[in-house]
Amino acid sequence: MQDSTLLTPEKPVIGDDVMLAIRNLSKSFGRNRVLQHIDMDVKKGSVMGLMGENGAGKSTMMKCLFGIKTRDEGQFYLDGKEVSFAGPKDALENGIAMVHQELNQALDRSVLDNLFLGRYPTTSLG
Ligand SMILES: Nc1ncnc2c1ncn2[C@@H]1O[C@H](COP(=O)(O)OP(=O)(O)OP(=O)(O)O)[C@@H](O)[C@H]1O
Ligand SMILES: [Mg+2]
Repeated sequence: MQDSTLLTPEKPVIGDDVMLAIRNLSKSFGRNRVLQHIDMDVKKGSVMGLMGENGAGKSTMMKCLFGIKTRDEGQFYLDGKEVSFAGPKDALENGIAMVHQELNQALDRSVLDNLFLGRYPTTSLG
């Protein structure tokens, strides 16, 4: 007899303490395989630094998450729910902001201002 569990695709394991999970993310530019089966967890309430040499694929990973670049394979999970952002507006509306490496920020504003640029949080008073 065949075990039916073998027929269901394997579900990624994501801990309850994980806010953002990346699973099996891959991206190539032509023959340049930049990201190969990346898994990453960002835990709730944490600040994470990601380090890697120039050209390692850090920005590409963020652009795939932010919906600027299409990924070849892989999934993103926010609070355990799978998400796939169509573009920056979609990502921003779902709580993901990106301050780009390229110098197009409002340099006289703080990092926090740049994160909320154009969509400052409001109260009931406006
Ligand atoms: N639009 C693109 N077309 C072709 N290749 C690209 C493109 N964007 C990035 N790459 C290539 O993908 C690789 C990863 O680049 P990426 O900018 O993601 O690296 P990084 O880790 O952010 O580097 P850095 O530390 O310099 O910011 C590099 O080899 C880069 O040349
Ligand atoms: Mg970069």
